[in-house]
Amino acid sequence: MAEIVAGVGTSHVPAIGAAVDHKKTQEPYWKPIFDGMVPVRVRLEQLKPDVCIVVYNDHASRFDLGLIPTFAIGTGEQFLPHDEGYGPRPVPAVNGDPELAWHIVQSLVLDEFDVTMVDSMTVDHGLTVPLSVAFGEPQEWPCRVIPLCVNVIQYPPPTGNRCLNLGKALRKAVESYPKDIRVAIFGTGGLSHQLQGERAGLINREYDNRWLDGFISHPGDVARISHAELIREVGSEGLECVMWLVMRGALHDDVQVTHRFYHVPASNTAYGLLLLENKK
Ligand code: DHB
Ligand code: FE
Repeated sequence: MAEIVAGVGTSHVPAIGAAVDHKKTQEPYWKPIFDGMVPVRVRLEQLKPDVCIVVYNDHASRFDLGLIPTFAIGTGEQFLPHDEGYGPRPVPAVNGDPELAWHIVQSLVLDEFDVTMVDSMTVDHGLTVPLSVAFGEPQEWPCRVIPLCVNVIQYPPPTGNRCLNLGKALRKAVESYPKDIRVAIFGTGGLSHQLQGERAGLINREYDNRWLDGFISHPGDVARISHAELIREVGSEGLECVMWLVMRGALHDDVQVTHRFYHVPASNTAYGLLLLENKK
């Protein structure tokens, strides 16, 4: 049977992707952040996931006001990087896993999570930056990737609790897949940042770290935090952190923290990185 071997939480700061693509990772501004990624890369190389399910948000790239699913799963064979204005990122194409993706769709919908099925989609920095964080600069990504897109762009996004419960249903879906494969779940976005309006530049280091503590040890409480509190404390884009709760729900209640890293600033954003594993 399929096994969930790790949960990764990471911010998706687009400037991190640009630092990789423009060979700036060793510059003084970026080096501490890229050094902070090393233990995650090393551990993922040991764990060798066959598939990563990346819970991420699209930024009006593939989905805009014409169509915004709350939860969407990429069921296609391949997903190309989206051109976000400077040309597509020069990273490998993302190869999907249609068979597992359709199994997950069936399990989730029959479990009353009505996810949208998307065969044809491009992926923006919300998905490609987490892959760069986890795997560096390979010629090909080392595993198949199933994109699980969450709307956190157009109000109303799903509640944290809905995301946590989706994660629990996702775990059931993965663990009922009959092939012996190793699966990692990524929760992405956040942590605190606000890109627009009078509060642009907002970072809340203290709240982020308290949120991470709770995320690890009592996720049910963190999942109950209101959108209003999140927007007030971590900014309008900081609300992206609800996507981490899908990853958390897919793991056991009792987890081991393999790596935890936090750095301010990364562009306009607080950068957070977490690798969790189920306790054996
Ligand atoms: C920035 C952060 C984001 O999460 C995003 O989607 C776009 C920009 C930033 O830090 O500039
Ligand atoms: Fe974002």
